[in-house]
Amino acid sequence: MGKLAILEGGQDGGVSVVVNNAGKIECIDLDDRIDQNYQNCTFVEEIDASGMCVLPGLIDGHTHPVWAGDRVHEFAMKLAGATYMDIHKAGGGIGFTVEHVRKASEDELYTSLRKRLQRMLRSGTTLVEAKSGYGLDVDSEMKMLRVIEKAKKELAIEISSTFCGAHSVPKGSTTEEATNNVVNCQIPKLQELMERKEITVDNIDVFCEKGVFGLDDTRKIFEAGKAVGLAINFHGDELHPMKAAELGAELGARAISHLEEVSEEGIQAMSAASVVAVLLPTTAYILRLKCPPARKMIDSGVPVALGTDFNPNAFCLSMPLTMHLACVNLRMTMEESLAAATINAAASLGRSHTHGSLEPGKVADMLVIDAPRWEHLVYQLGGHDEIIKFVIKHGKAVHIRPQ
Ligand code: NIG
Ligand code: FE
Repeated sequence: MGKLAILEGGQDGGVSVVVNNAGKIECIDLDDRIDQNYQNCTFVEEIDASGMCVLPGLIDGHTHPVWAGDRVHEFAMKLAGATYMDIHKAGGGIGFTVEHVRKASEDELYTSLRKRLQRMLRSGTTLVEAKSGYGLDVDSEMKMLRVIEKAKKELAIEISSTFCGAHSVPKGSTTEEATNNVVNCQIPKLQELMERKEITVDNIDVFCEKGVFGLDDTRKIFEAGKAVGLAINFHGDELHPMKAAELGAELGARAISHLEEVSEEGIQAMSAASVVAVLLPTTAYILRLKCPPARKMIDSGVPVALGTDFNPNAFCLSMPLTMHLACVNLRMTMEESLAAATINAAASLGRSHTHGSLEPGKVADMLVIDAPRWEHLVYQLGGHDEIIKFVIKHGKAVHIRPQ
């Protein structure tokens, strides 16, 4: 994870990336060789990145971007000492957001989602995982998935969508009732909408946590999700050790997020089964949790990815900031943070064959950084607005830094 392949230009010229009409990378090479090999071609567009660095587009492996009603008041409560679970049990947290999302129209949800995704794009994210999970009943969960679908069709940022109907036990239900509702009502409806091509959903998620969904409920939900073709990508071992990592490895999960409380056996099981660990340094920072054992996971061969965990609890839209926190608090190197925010995050979404690195044949998603070395993206804490000169999606500049 710590070794990056970096192509540097020499004194006589730099490096160029050629993108074809399909938005895929055709060639990456030194300028003089590109000039030679493409001398009879005309380029539709040229982007001048002289003196700058070109990186793969960033990939955010974990977000909850569809919601109404902020929770700034809860931030104040947490600063005054309340824990995440104190607020959750008192009906705040996810429960508060669910009340607002149920009342919101699709248009309202879409308007705020669009703004958030555009901010992510400007911060360098070209592919993002986006979850439902603030509806917790058939109609509201499908409403959220339809809103994500609209964003998939209309916005430049690419989305991998996740059904998270088991994000919390809704008010008035038991865990058993909530599990049955997800398995017998929400998943069948989702399957129907997928068959009718109204929505496309890639992953299934459960908040596997003490006082939310236990291991047996989680297993039931994943078996039903797998049966309709969804990849398992879930919240595990965040606040209490649950043996979620062991369960995920057993069920062939593609990714598990959080993992602050992962066990030694869980790390070994994830490594053996190549389950990607999606680490979320913003959450540990905001909730003042102990950090996930990133070093131990990397040294044990677990592929580590990163996500902002953007949600009303952790309001962070920026992968560069997340990478900075991963370096300082999770003790990752800058090289590891870049691999985690690109190729490994792509792997957490089953897209490492097409996304996450600059290689011929892959989608041409890139960042152009106005700095002498790529590390400035991580080093200049909160400075990405200034540093990111272009964000390129499928070979087209979708964001250009204002002069
Ligand atoms: O990843 N832990 C559960 N889910 C989210 C928080 C969602 C919320 O509080 O609204 C997380 O941190
Ligand atoms: Fe989350």
